[in-house]
Amino acid sequence: MTTTALSPAVLTDPTEPTDPARLTAPDRLTAPDRLTDPARLTDPELHATGDPHGLWAWMRTHAPVHRHPATDLPAFWSLTRHEDIREVYRDAAAFSSRHGVLLRKAALGDDPGGGLTLALTDAPRHKQLRSLMADWFNTRAVRGLEGPVRAATRTVLGRALEQGTCDVVHDIAGRLSLSVICHILGVPERDHEALYRWTNEAFEAHTSLVAHPRIVEYFEELLLQRMERPTGDLLSALVNGTVDGELLTEEEVVLNCENLIGATENGRLALIGGVQAFLEHPDQWQRLSEDRGLMPGAIEEVLRWTSSATHSMRVATRPYEIRGRQLAAGDRVVLWLPSANRDEEVFADPYRFDITRSPNRHIALAAGEHFCIGSTLARAEMRVLFSELLDGVRGIEQAGPVRRLHSIHVNGAESLPVRLTPA
Ligand code: HEM
Repeated sequence: MTTTALSPAVLTDPTEPTDPARLTAPDRLTAPDRLTDPARLTDPELHATGDPHGLWAWMRTHAPVHRHPATDLPAFWSLTRHEDIREVYRDAAAFSSRHGVLLRKAALGDDPGGGLTLALTDAPRHKQLRSLMADWFNTRAVRGLEGPVRAATRTVLGRALEQGTCDVVHDIAGRLSLSVICHILGVPERDHEALYRWTNEAFEAHTSLVAHPRIVEYFEELLLQRMERPTGDLLSALVNGTVDGELLTEEEVVLNCENLIGATENGRLALIGGVQAFLEHPDQWQRLSEDRGLMPGAIEEVLRWTSSATHSMRVATRPYEIRGRQLAAGDRVVLWLPSANRDEEVFADPYRFDITRSPNRHIALAAGEHFCIGSTLARAEMRVLFSELLDGVRGIEQAGPVRRLHSIHVNGAESLPVRLTPA
């Protein structure tokens, strides 16, 4: 890939570590506008135009278990080290998911999907719900999906090549990841476009999909059809499957469909982040084009590098000690994943994008019981997109400024214009 000059927003590359000399004075903690003020982590502007990696690097050293007082957000602890974050993920009995896994304003209360969707349930219900869905996401199922994923990729790339200049976010990655999850759920092809539009509206407004009445209505109608006439899709399995010997309620089915569609935002951001990383590191793209055997490692490095899920939240179910700090039952704990994936205690030269990195113990897809159920699918989508780009496209150039998302939940480009030249 070749790349043109980057926009000013990208010139302050948030993936570059900030000069440590600027980051060592603890008194900066009291200066709210400084790089070392952990409160800034909750400011979407920092993630869109600033340098969260500089702040995370400082926190890993100076404040790895940091208490944030309540603001419009409830009080919470920040964890920034790989080891601590992994420990919390792996102890689902001590750290619950049922009150929500993302920070939200206190006035909004707990997440409406709490106790109902896969991501927001605890054992034993979580395990039963997960086994209802697992068959659609395991290695065998994803192998079976490779054909449709390749066909969808060729369709979006073919259109993008005809246009010449396109936006990787909307014209390629967004359409691809949505059409694959729709295929799994059993959404008829004629409705993909509408669902894509509504999903984008919700993502752009940074509201949950539940807030979009058309999406709710759509799945309510589709689930009635599947109740009458089940087919072999995931929606039919949700409609007819049981947890604790009981059918799921309509609300649970709809919320779980939305949860799955919402979760693909991470999938699309990983695809976009991969294209962007290769645009910025053409030597790595060259290596991959010369040796396709490097693909699995390249995908892991893209996942680590982009870490598109910015945080996961948990609520402590009992008192818990981490690095000498006492967490009380009921305390919220926020796990900053991009920080874990740049932890210098785990990764050699963590700010280098290296597709041959080994070992690569990233936790971009979480760990423990709530390990991403879409992980195999997300990797397959990346593998197919990157190999189709290598085969069918001679050059990709950046064709305009990159705009990054204003969000503390997910991170990556919200617009990445490129010019494609056919092979
Ligand atoms: C095809 C795309 C994807 C789908 C369908 C998907 C779906 C899901 C679902 C349903 C869960 C909840 C699992 C559970 O609680 O048992 C989950 C968890 C998670 N996924 Fe994915 N995912 C996708 C891609 C990704 C990608 C690319 C990333 C990051 C790079 C990611 C990061 C995560 C994380 C961090 C969690 C843990 C959330 C938590 O419990 O706090 N996902 N995913």
